[in-house]
Amino acid sequence: METVKIAFFDTKPYDRDYFDPLLKDPAFPLKLKYLNVRLGPDTAALASGYDGICIFVNDRIDAVTADILYRQGIKIIALRSAGYNNVDLEALRGKIPVVRVPAYSPHAVAEYAVSLLLTLNRKTHKAYSRVREGNFSLAGLEGFDLYQKIAGIIGTGQIGKITAEILRGFGMEVLASDPYPSAEWAKAHGVLYIDREELIRRSDIISLHCPLTPENRRFINRGALSSMKPGAIIINTGRGGLIDTRDLIYALKENHLGGAALDVYEEEDRYFFEDHSGQVIQDDVLARLMTFPNVLITSHQAFFTREALSAIAETTLENLRRFFEKNERPHEIKTA
Ligand code: NAI
Repeated sequence: METVKIAFFDTKPYDRDYFDPLLKDPAFPLKLKYLNVRLGPDTAALASGYDGICIFVNDRIDAVTADILYRQGIKIIALRSAGYNNVDLEALRGKIPVVRVPAYSPHAVAEYAVSLLLTLNRKTHKAYSRVREGNFSLAGLEGFDLYQKIAGIIGTGQIGKITAEILRGFGMEVLASDPYPSAEWAKAHGVLYIDREELIRRSDIISLHCPLTPENRRFINRGALSSMKPGAIIINTGRGGLIDTRDLIYALKENHLGGAALDVYEEEDRYFFEDHSGQVIQDDVLARLMTFPNVLITSHQAFFTREALSAIAETTLENLRRFFEKNERPHEIKTA
C-alpha cells in the first residue's frame, strides 16, 4: 500500500505526543504533515498534494474552503472532535466524506462542567490567588450548598447524562430537556424531563450539553436569561453559539444572574487555544465578559484529559485506516 498523506491542521504540541506513537503500523503507512495554521479559505491551498486532511474545532470549512479542498482531490476530512458545527456539510455533500470522533471521553467534559460549577460557586480560583498574596480573609468568598438545589441539564446525550448523574450524587434535584428523552435512564437516576422553558425558569444551575445547530443558535438569549431565577448560574461547555453573549452581558450587568462559567465562546476561534497575553484584546464583547467578578472563562479545555487525547488519536487514525484500506466510513457525518 502506498503511503497515505494527511495534512493535519491547527497542530498543537500535545497532538504530536498522542498521534506520533500510533504511526508505526507497517500495514498502514501513514504520514501526517503537522501544520500550525488553521484551515480556512486562505490556508486551504496547503492541502494540495495530500490524500486527506485532519482538523479540529476552530478550523473552518465554509463553501469556499470546501470547493478548494474538492478541486485539490482531498478524499476525506477527519475531524479530531465530536462537534462539527464548523463544517459546511451541505457544501461537501457528495464530494468529500467527513468522519469524526463521536465519543472520546464524555467523562472528561462532564467532570469539567462540574468543576467549573464548583469553582464559580465556591470561588476557589479567587481563594488561591488571595492566599498566595498573603490575604487570608474570607470576605466575598461565600457560595451556596448544591445539596437540594435544582440543576437543569439541556441535552442529555453522553455528556449531559454523566453530568446529571454527578449532580445527583451531590443530592441535587435534576431536571432535563432533550427532544429525544431517555425515559429509562431518567427513571433509573431520578431525573425529571420537562420542557425547556420550564427548566430554565426552575433551575438554580443550568448546564448546556446540546450541539450547536441552526435551530438552537443563541437560544439562551435575553428572554431565556430574564426568565432564569435571580442568582442562577449558567454553565456552558457545549458551544459558544448557544448563548447570545451580548444578552448574557446585559443579564450580568442587571445583576440578575448569579454567574456564568464558560468553556466556549461564540467568537472563540480568534483567541482560544493561543497565548495572547502580550496583546490588547480587540474583541470588546470578550473583554467585557472578562471583567465580571462572577464570570469564569476557560479556553475550550473541557475535553483536555489524557484519556480523551488518546481516544481522539486512536479513533482518528482508525477512521483513516478503514477509509483508505477498506473504503469504509465509520463515524461518517451524514447530511439529512
Ligand atoms: P450527544 O450527541 O451524545 O448528545 C447531544 C444531545 O443533545 C442529544 O441527546 C440531542 O438529542 C440533544 N439535543 C439536540 N438539540 C437539543 C436542544 N435544542 N435542546 C436540548 N437537547 C438537544 O453529544 P455529546 O457527546 O453529549 O456532546 C454534546 C456537545 O458537547 C457536543 O455537541 C459539543 O458541542 C460539546 N462538546 C464540548 C467539548 C469541550 O471540550 N468543551 C468536548 C466535546 C463536546
